[in-house]
Formats: sequence, C-alpha cells, structure tokens
Amino acid sequence: MSIYLDNAATTPLDPEVFEAMKPFMLEDFGNPSSTHAHGRKVRAAIESARKQIASLLNCTPGEIIFTSGGTEADNAILASSIRTYGIKNVITSLIEHHAVELTLGNLAKQGLIKLHFVNLDEKGQVDLDHLNTLLKENPNALVSLMHANNEIGNILDLEKVSELCDQHKAYFHSDTVQTVGHFKHDLSKMKVHGITAAAHKFHGPKGIGFMFIRKDKKIQPFMQGGAQERNMRGGTENVYGIIGLAKALEIAYRDMDEHIHHIKSLKSRMIERLKNNIPGVMFNGNSADLDNSLYTVLSVSLPESDENSMLLFNLDLQGISASGGSACSSGTATGSHVLSALYPESNRGAIRFSFSKYNTPEEIDFVVDKLASLLKVEALK
Ligand SMILES: Cc1ncc(COP(=O)(O)O)c(C=O)c1O
Repeated sequence: MSIYLDNAATTPLDPEVFEAMKPFMLEDFGNPSSTHAHGRKVRAAIESARKQIASLLNCTPGEIIFTSGGTEADNAILASSIRTYGIKNVITSLIEHHAVELTLGNLAKQGLIKLHFVNLDEKGQVDLDHLNTLLKENPNALVSLMHANNEIGNILDLEKVSELCDQHKAYFHSDTVQTVGHFKHDLSKMKVHGITAAAHKFHGPKGIGFMFIRKDKKIQPFMQGGAQERNMRGGTENVYGIIGLAKALEIAYRDMDEHIHHIKSLKSRMIERLKNNIPGVMFNGNSADLDNSLYTVLSVSLPESDENSMLLFNLDLQGISASGGSACSSGTATGSHVLSALYPESNRGAIRFSFSKYNTPEEIDFVVDKLASLLKVEALK
C-alpha cells in the first residue's frame, strides 16, 4: 500500500503534461535565443505558453516572467521591488514561507529595511485593521502576505488587501504558490503588483514557475545575464518546463470545478472520520473550515500520546506519506515557525495531510484507521 497525502509539498506529474513536454525533450531542442529555425520553433512555443498562461490569469503576456520556481520568484520580487523603489519599510507576517521570511529577514539584518509584522488572530488570519494602521504609519511600504498558507491552509482576501495597499500606495507582493492552479486568479480585478507560482504544486514539472509583475509597477532584474525574458531573467529558458507549466495550468483550469468538489469531499470525510475516531483531535489554523481555507490542506494536531513523536515515521512504515508541517524544512530540528507563531505557549506538533485529484475516499479511510490504531485510541476513550 502506498498513499501520498503530501500534495502541498509537491504533486505527481499529470501524464497529459508529460506528453506535451516530451517533444521538447527529444526533438525540439533548439535554444530559443538562436535565430535559426531550430531556435525559432522553440521560441514560438515559449511565447505561446506565456500567452496561454496570461489569458488564464487575465493579464498580458509581458507580465509573466518564467523562473526556476516559487523560491526564485519570491526572492526576485522582494529584493528587486525594494531596490527599484527605494523601499525602507516592509509589512509582512510571522507565518510566511521561508522563501519570503528569510529573504526579508536577511535584508533587515543588513539594515536595508525595517520589518513590521501584522497581527494575526488565534486562527492565523490577518488583522486587516492592524494592516491598515501599519500602512498609514509607513507610507510607500512593501506588503508581502501570502495568499494561502502552505502549513495551515489559511486564505488571505487578496482583493481587500490589494485595495488597502492601493489606497496607501504600497507595493503588494503575494506568494500565491499554493493557490495558482487551485483557484482562478483574475489579475484584472485586483491591484496586486507581484504574485508567484510553481508548476509542481499543480501536477506540472519541478524546477519551473513564474512571477507576474504588473506592467505599471516594473522592477529591475534579479538575475543578471542574457537578455532572456525581456531582460528580466537572464539564463537559457527551461523550455520543456515552460511547456509543462502551461499545460498543467490549462488542465487545472479546465477541470477545476470537478477537482475542487472531489478534494473537498475527501477533506470533509477526513475531518469527520478523525473527529469520530480520535478523541481530542484538533485542527490548526483555519484548515477545517471547508469553504474558507485552502481546500487541499488539513493540518491536524493529535492528543498527547507517547506515540506522537514517532507518528510520521510509523505512518511512513505503513506506506503513508504525510508531512510534519512544512516539507521544505524537513530535516531541520527547529520545527514549524508557523505553529510556534500561532501557538507560542504550546509545543503542539502537527501532521499536514494535503490532497490531490488522484486521492480516493478509500485512502482517507485507511489513513484514519491506521492513525487510530497507531495512537491506540481504544486506550484514550
Ligand atoms: C507557499 C510557498 N511558497 C514558496 C514555495 C517554494 O516553491 P519552490 O519549491 O517551487 O521553489 C513553496 C513550496 O513549498 C510554498 O509552499
């Protein structure tokens, strides 16, 4: 038995995506910057992928810049917007992904910016009144707040926050790595200046993503080199990655309603089964609120038990892959900065289950049964 419930870390490649990528791995190998026929063919494919992505997100092709993934895109927007606009104050939160948290932390350590942390409520939701106050106190700031939290699934109201940022002339970046391909973003309807995406979060290939940079809020390039990506990101393009990214996004949009329905039903089943089978189970952040959270993520804390510390390991032995918070920090001893920011006085651990279109109700039942038996819940009742 092999069950994969770690889809917020990465998702399996869709075979349809692989088929679209294959010709660009084998036959169409030209360098898109070459002006001969081999190059021109590949250039045309890249530009058509860019057009397709832009049309799905309702922006212009020139506003989409391909990167190596979410981390590079976040780093680029943050560092370059600060440099381009001489920004001194940055408003962010304590539960951002490390790609944002560490980038901003390092710039603050160098004395280049001052950080201001917006208050969060007990579930991890951003306090918009406090954000408004911080914006008033810090004109021309950069605001960096993620659309959906990768550990606890909290969702930010992007439209409201972009309105606030617009009123106060702030540059607004949102890490949308967990939501591109899972929600339909209409960039013509909100004033966010920069968002980020990684194809492997929605059944595309790894090592490819993009940033959207609004055309009236351009930033200087982050990676210096060749003139690729309209001088915005030097380096020969990851051609088959770009083709796979566009295909994965096309499929995600095509089948989104069906996938949302399927995944929400899995999540709801897991919540109910956990509540019924494991006394004292808790859900972190907003993740158990089906309609107001990232539907792909459920963050679970289990009652105190001698079995807790070995739980992920024991699930793994049973063929079940889940994550202890953020997979990006697995192997580090510091635990989850998100959970310690939200629950400072408890040392509660968490298991993050994250779902995809490929999971089944039978898998959910199997996992809950295994959890109950590993926790020896009969003894807890
Ligand atoms: C919210 C968020 N931002 C950024 C990233 C980084 O993306 P990548 O691993 O593609 O660089 C991740 C990946 O886990 C993420 O979940």
